[in-house]
Amino acid sequence: MLLEMEQEDVDIPSRRVLITGATGLLGRAVFKEFNENNWNTVGCGYRRAQPRFEHVNLLDCIAVHDIIHDFQPHVIVHCAAERRPDVVEGQPDAASQLNVAASANLAKEAAGVGAFLIYISTDYVFDGTSPPYKETDVPNPLNLYGKTKLEGEKAVLENNEETAVLRIPVLYGEVERLEESAVTVMFDKVQFSNKSANMDHWQQRFPTNVKDVAAVCRQLAEKRMLDPSIKGTFHWSGNEQMTKYEMACAIADAFNLPSSHLRPITDSPVVGALRPKNAQLDCSKLEMLGIGQRTPFRAGIRESLWPFLVDKRWRQTVFH
Ligand SMILES: NC(=O)c1ccc[n+]([C@@H]2O[C@H](COP(=O)([O-])OP(=O)(O)OC[C@H]3O[C@@H](n4cnc5c(N)ncnc54)[C@H](OP(=O)(O)O)[C@@H]3O)[C@@H](O)[C@H]2O)c1
Repeated sequence: MLLEMEQEDVDIPSRRVLITGATGLLGRAVFKEFNENNWNTVGCGYRRAQPRFEHVNLLDCIAVHDIIHDFQPHVIVHCAAERRPDVVEGQPDAASQLNVAASANLAKEAAGVGAFLIYISTDYVFDGTSPPYKETDVPNPLNLYGKTKLEGEKAVLENNEETAVLRIPVLYGEVERLEESAVTVMFDKVQFSNKSANMDHWQQRFPTNVKDVAAVCRQLAEKRMLDPSIKGTFHWSGNEQMTKYEMACAIADAFNLPSSHLRPITDSPVVGALRPKNAQLDCSKLEMLGIGQRTPFRAGIRESLWPFLVDKRWRQTVFH
């Protein structure tokens, strides 16, 4: 019996990581990445937590304190946030509670157990007028979402010196619903080619695969375990520049579908929260540390979207 218990102890990885937002688009990939790479991994979710993850409302300070003190993580990757700019504009107080106040509290609790915190931020902290942006460039968010994420950055750095802020651009990856990502949501407009569809051709984006960001988080955490000077602000991004129109054409191309029904709109959008025209992130700081991973967009998007392909005949031809 004792031998069995000792054997179990040996099998549990000694490095512990806690992931907030583990039910979300990025958090699911981050959970998988650490879990498959010999980390003792605990994920937290809120509305979708059960049955796989711990149910923790990040606005509940006692619940946050308890999970961190019980688990004693070496690393916390903070993915939970309200990330939809138009929702933030409509519910500014709730968004600020989650993106700023809850992040500050998490950073404080992380400091209490000596955990290294990775706070996920966004390229929307920049105004998009003079890309590419280095970590030292002065942020100037155009919309409330960017403002709350920037305030969150300041709050975590003030409350925990052992923090890395990781800024990333628009994400795509394996989705539960197409609406989960601003990239995958275009798929139905692409595949239902009997209807013409207007696509933004003004804002320059750098679609980034969640698996790549997850790998960057793990590499950053593992470097940090060896080198305590790893902290501060970092940038990571895919390197293929595309407007939404160009992404839609690339998606059509990836699935061998027509794209002539897609219409590029070159005017700046007039509805919704303001967006930066080009907030390209300079990633050389992480690259110099030997950290990074980039999946080509067409390969990544094919892998993410093929379960949503309506034309089953095509799917059978290509994948079976
Ligand atoms: N998506 C993008 O294109 C993008 C671009 C740049 C930066 N980012 C940043 O990347 C991070 C991850 O974004 P994402 O797209 O993965 O977000 P997401 O899919 O919208 O997921 C949000 C997560 O936050 C959790 N959450 C919401 N309210 C909570 C609460 N009160 N307590 C605890 N958890 C709560 C959700 O849990 P439940 O669903 O279980 O309620 C979910 O796991 C965010 O910091 C975001 O700002 C995202």
